[in-house]
Amino acid sequence: MRLPIEVFLAVRSLVGENFPLGVRINGEDFTLDGNTLAQSTRIAVKLAEIGADYISVSAGSRFEDAKVPEPGKPWDPMSGYSGHRMSPWFWWPDGTHVYLAEGIRRAVREAGYETPIVTAGKIREPSLAEEILKEGKADIIGLCRALLADPDWPKKS
Ligand SMILES: Cc1cc2nc3c(=O)[nH]c(=O)nc-3n(C[C@H](O)[C@H](O)[C@H](O)COP(=O)(O)O)c2cc1C
Repeated sequence: MRLPIEVFLAVRSLVGENFPLGVRINGEDFTLDGNTLAQSTRIAVKLAEIGADYISVSAGSRFEDAKVPEPGKPWDPMSGYSGHRMSPWFWWPDGTHVYLAEGIRRAVREAGYETPIVTAGKIREPSLAEEILKEGKADIIGLCRALLADPDWPKKS
């Protein structure tokens, strides 16, 4: 935690208290030695404690289980299972990572912090987004590929 804390505090001192400054973390790394909710919930509570304005929960995309590249080619963190979990493929259920945001949100609330929690990962339909918010599983909906495909998604919904 030392490096992310130092980076966060350094950026905070540059942008000041009135600038929204959040952190993105993995809810789970999806590698053998990686973090699970057992660790990421504790990481999130620490980030809330040092004043993160939001915590955005991602997953996977680690290098540890990436395929060994051909000589001279760079490592591709998307080539292993962990990588596949970051941007869930079509065979994963919608809202693939909502349970990770939910677990982290619960831990942060139980620790007494109101830090908004962002969830992302194959949220394709506005109705699912509304359901997640209504059920208190996350506070903010993160969209990546949906916005690449249709930047007007939020306006339309
Ligand atoms: C082209 C592309 C680039 C991405 N770059 C980053 C990145 O730099 N940092 C990050 O935390 N996530 C990155 N992501 C992950 C997305 O932020 C998001 O968590 C993931 O794609 C799941 O959300 P989605 O199903 O709405 O795409 C990237 C995803 C894509 C498709």
